[in-house]
Amino acid sequence: MKKIFFVCLMAIGAVSYAQKLVYLDESKDIEERVEDALKRMTLAEKIDVIHAQSKFSSAGVKRLGMPDFWTDDGPHGVRPDVLWDEWEQAGQSNDSCVAFPALTCLAATWQPAFSYMYGYALGEEALYRGKSMILGPGINIYRTPLGGRNFEYMGEDPYLTSRMVVPYVQGLQSVGVASCVKHYCLNNDEEYRHQVNVIVSDRALHEIYLPGFEAAIKEGKAWGIMGAYNLYKNEHNCHNQYTLNKILKQDWGFDGVVVSDWGGAHDLDQAVKNGLDMEFGTWTNGLSEGASNAYDMYYLSKQYQKAIVEGKYTTKELDEKVRRVLRTFFRTTMNKQKPYGFLCSEQHYQTARMVAHEGIVLLQNEGNVLPILPELHPEGMKILVVGENAIKMMTVGGGSSSLKAQHEISPLQGLKMRIEASDFPSKGRVSLDYARGYVGDTSGNYNGVTTGQDLKDDRSPEALIAEAVEKAKTADYVIIFGGLNKSNYQDCEGHDRKTMDLPYNQDKLITSIAVVNKNTVYVNISGNAVSMPWRKQVPAIVQGWFLGSESGIALADVLLGRNNPSGHLPFTWYESLDQCGAHSFGEAAFPGIWREGKKIIDEEYKEGIYVGYRWTDKQKLKPAFAFGHGLSYTTFKISNLRATLNDTTDGNMTFKVDITNTGNCLGSDVVQLYITDVKCSVDRPVKELKAFKKVMLKPGETQTVTLTTDKRALSFWDEQTNDWKAEPGEFIAQVGDASDKLTCKVKFRLVEY
Ligand code: BGC
Repeated sequence: MKKIFFVCLMAIGAVSYAQKLVYLDESKDIEERVEDALKRMTLAEKIDVIHAQSKFSSAGVKRLGMPDFWTDDGPHGVRPDVLWDEWEQAGQSNDSCVAFPALTCLAATWQPAFSYMYGYALGEEALYRGKSMILGPGINIYRTPLGGRNFEYMGEDPYLTSRMVVPYVQGLQSVGVASCVKHYCLNNDEEYRHQVNVIVSDRALHEIYLPGFEAAIKEGKAWGIMGAYNLYKNEHNCHNQYTLNKILKQDWGFDGVVVSDWGGAHDLDQAVKNGLDMEFGTWTNGLSEGASNAYDMYYLSKQYQKAIVEGKYTTKELDEKVRRVLRTFFRTTMNKQKPYGFLCSEQHYQTARMVAHEGIVLLQNEGNVLPILPELHPEGMKILVVGENAIKMMTVGGGSSSLKAQHEISPLQGLKMRIEASDFPSKGRVSLDYARGYVGDTSGNYNGVTTGQDLKDDRSPEALIAEAVEKAKTADYVIIFGGLNKSNYQDCEGHDRKTMDLPYNQDKLITSIAVVNKNTVYVNISGNAVSMPWRKQVPAIVQGWFLGSESGIALADVLLGRNNPSGHLPFTWYESLDQCGAHSFGEAAFPGIWREGKKIIDEEYKEGIYVGYRWTDKQKLKPAFAFGHGLSYTTFKISNLRATLNDTTDGNMTFKVDITNTGNCLGSDVVQLYITDVKCSVDRPVKELKAFKKVMLKPGETQTVTLTTDKRALSFWDEQTNDWKAEPGEFIAQVGDASDKLTCKVKFRLVEY
């Protein structure tokens, strides 16, 4: 009896105690919980939560029941675990993931709904792996095709990037995993990423480089953002008064955490005052090297604590940082409503496949060489596959986005699987042969993850080409899988490419084959444009990106006509580097000019707002393939553009346009709307993308597409007032399915009232 009485007393005590623990009460407003937790924390606990305790985690508050906080790369799948305090692999057996297509491919789908699915699937994988924050998506603008990390980003256009980043963030965060959008900001090349001080006009900053981040924060409500390595206005972006305190937190009202890029913090005072909330990776070079057990030496660690105790700082800044961290805890680790996580589920593979299917871009298809339809060859046919990229695993390498994929289907395997499938039309009558053609990177190892592939081949380049050419002579079709890979100085973090040319003698290989086989198809695997001096000699060209786990299947489906390609380029594919604005002003504009002492290199974005098609339009240049370009196995007609109003006073406009599938198979097209300001007090681009919609149509079907725009679509960043401004007057809207194929236009006016 006594015992029961005692238990009852304990229970009552526990209940009333729990009632006081506002921070644990999920029915309470999150801000109330934050304040409650904050006032319970000691100085040491506060310091603990604002810096790393291992390569990818920071401490929770154990005494208050708040678990450690785990982050991980990002952005194309969940990175395998490394050891607590070392960069070596932890050797887990449960960290093989689904590798999703790289973000250039996601952007090429022009399908915001797919971006949501992508984020959602990635979030489920992260949850399974116990990660509360994914270090992604990366959305730096593609300023030059030499940019080593362009493959991780969403292309050159701020509007397309904005529309694609918002649903990614929303999908990921819908399962209680924070997105850490990166790299904020102006981290547009890699070579000197730690030393580059970017000089850019306010207009270019606001019109080109910031809109993606602004959308991720204001519309996507991202809970995290990563400061970039480089400097702007002579301050590192991980603790930058102007970009973090002023723009991000004050102007955009960001209430989440600013995370430093790994090793991106450099100064105690700036780390305290200039907007950084969580410090990671100090004492590393960002990726591979690291001092052991350096966590106490971080800027936002013991030295900060000591400075507070000694009265150098009050706890004002500290409390503000901790509030943001706590808010993140309540949104993620402490959120009991989170769903379960799943790793490598069939839905995740399906998502990866769908994104790959929709992102592959048919760049050129002279004489309709593609699709390769076995039905047209009842007597059977021979397909020759050539190139290292037909067999090379691409999910390993490239830097921090490198993955340990549960599986990766190579292009050659994918073709084989489809051709041998029981439902393949000419099963048994299609033969597949392979020739290596060139040897590129045979290493297959990144940060302790190995592909297990033995790609060594000691033959000379001439011998490899001779073999491929010999076989090509008797093949009905030749499919060359070439392009770049994820090794240094290609599509890889830490360096930029040195030229736009294809590496490893591939130009020679491709031209030699094209001469002997008129049905040559070139599939380019990369995240960047490459120069194609042989473009006119090769009838069919496909942009195959880095497609992740389902790569081979997705490519085979497009090549064999099981899937009609519908990807459109998220960047301008220059004929050569001289067509790119960033390369038109000498080294001051790229890669920059070293200051005395060689510690800082100033890179001035002299092309200003004229990035990508904005530059080629202005200079009247004809790129190899324009921004927004992408062909299909069917054809479309876009016509009858009309605006519901001729005049607008608030800047909002609604347009309607008809699109018809004029060919003979089901297909999707991207209806793109560009706006031109006819007369303006400042120089404006010839046209700018301001709305788009992807539609799927049956042969003969017509749909009316509605596109809406708002005042921002008419505005420029006014450097006089530091705000957006739309000047009254005439505007033109043009619609088509590529930036160089706008088939209809309509005029309207913005009128003052
Ligand atoms: C990269 C980040 C990455 C971080 C952690 C850095 O070197 O720039 O994108 O998230 O490492 O791996």
